Amino acid sequence: ISLWPYNTFGIDASARYFASFQNLAELEELVNWQLRVAGCQLILGGGSNILLTKDVDGLVLKNEIKGIAIVKEDDEHIYLKAGAGENWHRLVMHCVENNYAGIENLSLIPGNVGASPMQNIGAYGVEIKDVFHELEAFHLLDKNLVKFELKDCEFGYRESVFKRKYKGEFAIASVTYRLNKKPVYQTSYGAINQELERMGVKELNIQAISQAVVNIRSAKLPDPKVIGNAGSFFKNPQVEKEQFVQWQSNYQSVPSFPFDDEHVKIPAGWLIEQCGWKGYRNGDAGCYSKQALVLVNYGSASGQEIYALSEAILQSVETKFGIRLEREVNVL
Ligand code: FAD
Ligand code: EPU
Repeated sequence: ISLWPYNTFGIDASARYFASFQNLAELEELVNWQLRVAGCQLILGGGSNILLTKDVDGLVLKNEIKGIAIVKEDDEHIYLKAGAGENWHRLVMHCVENNYAGIENLSLIPGNVGASPMQNIGAYGVEIKDVFHELEAFHLLDKNLVKFELKDCEFGYRESVFKRKYKGEFAIASVTYRLNKKPVYQTSYGAINQELERMGVKELNIQAISQAVVNIRSAKLPDPKVIGNAGSFFKNPQVEKEQFVQWQSNYQSVPSFPFDDEHVKIPAGWLIEQCGWKGYRNGDAGCYSKQALVLVNYGSASGQEIYALSEAILQSVETKFGIRLEREVNVL
């Protein structure tokens, strides 16, 4: 079966077997079958953070566990549990409409609920870890359901245990978020304030913040339905503050964001643009003209062509700046 409809990069790789599951009983049955017959297995959500560089010689399992429900409530918080197969943006819209605050800055991120803890998705000053309560994950070999609390997930910048030490071991089944009844607005990211001003918003509310984020993202990021991509291809690197000050004498215009006491984050998009890649195209593989951090497939690029482009970009940034970028997208 072709995986073309199941990955936003629009890579035409195939899977030997493909199935979807709507509950854990179905998943367990499929895993039992897979262990006997199919070799490896891959859990798939919306396919918006993967690059397929070859065919999958095994079983691809699309997570379609649905459901959104309040499981607990106190004076300050709503605890909302969502099935891993729920669309992320639809969950955000549900919260924005009901005045459950906390994830409005994460509007319009593609993909599903189940992948949100995988890389601790983040945008415009908010990350999943800020609203995370707990999750349930099915251990694919032991076949039991395990609960993970915040501390168990070891969330970092685009990182979690699920991307590292437990890679491939669990299928995340549901995630419970702790949302605020009284919003705490996060507008430290400059672009949001500018957009809110442009929209003429006088009194802040989560609906306006969500709309501002949607506007910014729509203007800057390619719509995967039109141009294949998986969002930022690399992570933004951290550099030591001392080194950064030295750089500023060479490159006055270098932008930065605070990270911790000793480090700042430098936008990888800037580094890539400085190396001349922005708008580059070779066949159908390219570097997006409005956001250099996003690699794109204009139609029929293969996963290997995109990967080769990412390697060339990595090397040129390392040669020019001495910084080794790290890929953010899951390369398979
Ligand atoms: P998939 O691509 O299906 O899977 C990603 C990885 O998680 C794979 O390794 C897969 O095996 C694993 N996985 C998926 N679901 C499960 C599960 N239930 N259990 C176990 N493993 C699972 N990300 C951000 O953080 N911030 C952004 O601002 C952002 N912007 C984006 C903009 C665009 C235009 C695009 C295309 C992507 C963007 N992304 C962003 C990346 C992507 O949207 C997120 O990483 C999203 O969480 C991926 O969800 P998915 O369901 O599509 O995951
Ligand atoms: N920039 C350039 N040239 C470019 C692109 C960016 O110089 O071509 C510089 C500009 O100075 C710009 C700065 O980079 O001000 C930051 O750009 P942007 O606001 O677009 O954000 P980003 O750092 O490129 C990160 C996340 C995005 C997230 C946005 C908003 C990473 C790897 N990416 O991008 O997440 O949406 O911030 O918070 O951290 C994703 O993970 O897929 C993703 C899209």
